[in-house]
Amino acid sequence: MSWAYAALLVPCAAYMLALLAPSAADLLCAHASMACAAWGDAFLRRAAPVASVHAAIQYMDRALPALGVSLVLAVLGYGATYLAIAWSHRAFAAHGLCGRDLLKRTGAPVPESLGLPCAVIYLVLLLLFIPFRHFGCAASLYADHAQNLALYLSALLSMYSGALLGFVDDVLDIRWRFKLPIPLLSSIPMLMVYIAEGGATSVVVPAWPPVLRAFLRRTTLELGALYYVYMMLLAIFCTNCINILAGINGVEVGQALVIAVSVCINDLLYLDVPAVVQQAFFGRDVQVSLPLHNSVDLAARHLFSLHLLLPFIGTSAALLAWNRYPSRVFVGDTYCYFAGMVLVACGVLGHYSKTLLLFFLPQIANFLLSAPQLFHLVPCPRHRIPYLDAATGRLYPSCVVWEPRGMRGMLGGACIDMFVRMRLVCRVYDTHGKVLGVSNLTLLNAILVFCGARPGLASEATKRDDVALRVDALQGTVWLSERGLWYAMMGVQVAGSVLAFLVRYRLANAIFP
Ligand code: UD1
Ligand code: MG
Repeated sequence: MSWAYAALLVPCAAYMLALLAPSAADLLCAHASMACAAWGDAFLRRAAPVASVHAAIQYMDRALPALGVSLVLAVLGYGATYLAIAWSHRAFAAHGLCGRDLLKRTGAPVPESLGLPCAVIYLVLLLLFIPFRHFGCAASLYADHAQNLALYLSALLSMYSGALLGFVDDVLDIRWRFKLPIPLLSSIPMLMVYIAEGGATSVVVPAWPPVLRAFLRRTTLELGALYYVYMMLLAIFCTNCINILAGINGVEVGQALVIAVSVCINDLLYLDVPAVVQQAFFGRDVQVSLPLHNSVDLAARHLFSLHLLLPFIGTSAALLAWNRYPSRVFVGDTYCYFAGMVLVACGVLGHYSKTLLLFFLPQIANFLLSAPQLFHLVPCPRHRIPYLDAATGRLYPSCVVWEPRGMRGMLGGACIDMFVRMRLVCRVYDTHGKVLGVSNLTLLNAILVFCGARPGLASEATKRDDVALRVDALQGTVWLSERGLWYAMMGVQVAGSVLAFLVRYRLANAIFP
């Protein structure tokens, strides 16, 4: 664990240094030149790089305010979260916060809700960051200091309430009908700031099909209050969608990390980092430009998003180290809600909420697939995670008993028919060939069905309590273990991000010229 201590201590020292940076570096240079005078030219040659690195860092900080500090906090976040989990996970279990790992033969108890130390450390890092951001950014990018601070604090408040809601859910197991609308309340602070700073509420009318612009006789459409409704729904979606794509080791943190890294890459497209680095460290006189849309305001918003996301990536990576297969801790709903709120705060306050939604393509697919179960057109068991064949360690889609029930049954049946034709869902039959049920409607089960893993014939002694269906004969062509399914799911998430970039920067340019 010594590297975790190093990851903690080095950034701590760097943070202290950065706090004192201007005076400390000046002092260093002054001492260096005094020493130079005393000890001659040889020392001058060694001291010179110190001064030039100091100047380069100062230049970087002017061009991309506080980004360096954010990077330091990300590394600090990794070390601190890793150690915090190491120190606290037994205490969580001792206080009853532990769950059974359903996809392990032993079903051993694993400490639950360890998303809490991750969220707490992240939020402490963001508090430490306030002076850097305020003095760094406010001076050069934001005209209004108070507004800049309000923007940042509203994001913090929304994230705090997201984490709190998740922890309450872990402890009290809130019912879904209450869980769904609560993120609405969490999103109020950032929506108020969005209103106060006069955020745009219009959308561009697509140029294709051409009849749309001809019919509306305009190129932009003012949505007004509807736009706020959209952002509230986005908050509900982002907080819950990670939670319903859960249940195998490491999948909650993995998906949040891929989305966060993708959003960071998107942010960097708005900042000319290579030119700044070349100027600062190699002294090349390159023209620093704003690569996309040439707007200082846009650059400031994407810098804001990076300030929030870099420490999030650091703390989440440490959590993944503990939560990846085989999990030593579970993240709990605390992490799912907290991560959703961090991403939605970046999207709304960074004014790229539509682009953000593109990075949630797998989560949107999982939601659409899950909808018949979430809206009770098809029964929804307590757990929908895949079924483990303990003898081989292979995963199969888990199933649910499904009986057509009048009109609701017919609607559910139509959805199932469509999913079966798309090879995302499979039916389970009894020995007489009668349909007994279907595989649970989740993306994880769909990947297994798509790969050819099938629940076989259900025996007469089918277990019907909890509407979960035990399968006893299993067939399949491609086998996936829990670790294999995690890699497959991460592959889908990365492919989703690649598609999102293509849509955002190729298709969107054609449709919204
Ligand atoms: C959501 C899903 C549920 C899924 C569950 C798993 C919906 C509507 N609900 O419910 O289908 O089964 O998440 O998180 O889609 N667990 C593991 N291995 C893991 C992670 C979790 O076995 O890698 C189990 C543990 O027993 C843990 C429990 O899942 O205690 C946590 O479930 P919880 O987060 O309370 O379930 P929900 O969020 O309500
Ligand atoms: Mg959960």
